[in-house]
Amino acid sequence: MENNYILNNGVKMPSIIMGTTSFTSFRQMNEAICSAIDAGCRAFDTSRFYRTGGEETEKCLGIIIKNYLKSNSYLTREDFFITTKLAIPQLIRGSIEKDVIESINKLDTEYIDSLLIHWPFPDYFVPAYQKMEELYKKGLVKTLGMSNCQIRHFEQLFDAGLEINPQVHQLELHPLNTASETVEYCKKKNINIQAYSPLGKMLDPIKNNETLKEIANKHEKSLAQILLRWHYQLGFAPIFRSKSVDRIKNNLELFDFRLSEDEIELISNLNQNYKICTESSRCPGY
Ligand SMILES: NC(=O)c1ccc[n+]([C@@H]2O[C@H](COP(=O)([O-])OP(=O)(O)OC[C@H]3O[C@@H](n4cnc5c(N)ncnc54)[C@H](OP(=O)(O)O)[C@@H]3O)[C@@H](O)[C@H]2O)c1
Repeated sequence: MENNYILNNGVKMPSIIMGTTSFTSFRQMNEAICSAIDAGCRAFDTSRFYRTGGEETEKCLGIIIKNYLKSNSYLTREDFFITTKLAIPQLIRGSIEKDVIESINKLDTEYIDSLLIHWPFPDYFVPAYQKMEELYKKGLVKTLGMSNCQIRHFEQLFDAGLEINPQVHQLELHPLNTASETVEYCKKKNINIQAYSPLGKMLDPIKNNETLKEIANKHEKSLAQILLRWHYQLGFAPIFRSKSVDRIKNNLELFDFRLSEDEIELISNLNQNYKICTESSRCPGY
């Protein structure tokens, strides 16, 4: 499953990413991640504050990938694309280099493929980004990005005079929340989209949607495959998450069919600005 986007600095980013939240034990996460790698997934998304059971998820992910590499010599670390994020306490503390080196150590790697600011916490995200630029120049991180931003956050960032433009923006994106203004802005700035909650968490308004069900029946695909294919055809990298080995395998099979332009439009028109992940406590004034 070789399918990548080329980011604005030439780095390759896989077109589908697996998330690492909500696993209740290392064992469960290990089974899920290994089955995803078996099925061709090479990109994983984590964050400093994610937990797996009582363990730090970054640490679990590092162990799982390292073990996989030990028993599968056809793969190397360079085949993987690992995203992690700086959380608000880290932005406030300001010791970005120390914290990123800690993440690198927890992930048991030499570098991070994609380092994002998890929330654009006012007054702190611009200086944090500027410190991330230094780590980029040192080769500790290969791409820089933001998460959960509005256009005005990007404008604040660009107004500060960046040396390295962000390569990615990670935001909540699915047919019920197409965030089209932010997406258009990112396109103009050559920033690639990582779409989180791409399946709308499979909540009822998605799961029971007649338009989606009809399109899925027509293509003889699952609803999840239709949603992920919609992201892919629009140029987004969806970050899905599943605990089920069968569903993981199914979700990764999205490159053998094509939605028509009309179907893409029908799906995009489901937008209701329906946001699942609320932000005001993490980003006052958002
Ligand atoms: N930057 C941010 O602030 C932020 C915020 C939220 C999430 N994220 C990232 O995005 C990742 C995914 O987010 P998410 O969990 O909200 O999104 P999601 O992938 O839209 O939804 C996950 C839900 O969909 C179900 N599911 C997955 N595949 C399915 C299938 N084929 N059929 C039916 N149900 C299916 C899963 O259940 P089962 O496990 O039972 O399959 C799970 O309940 C996270 O793990 C995290 O890495 C980032």
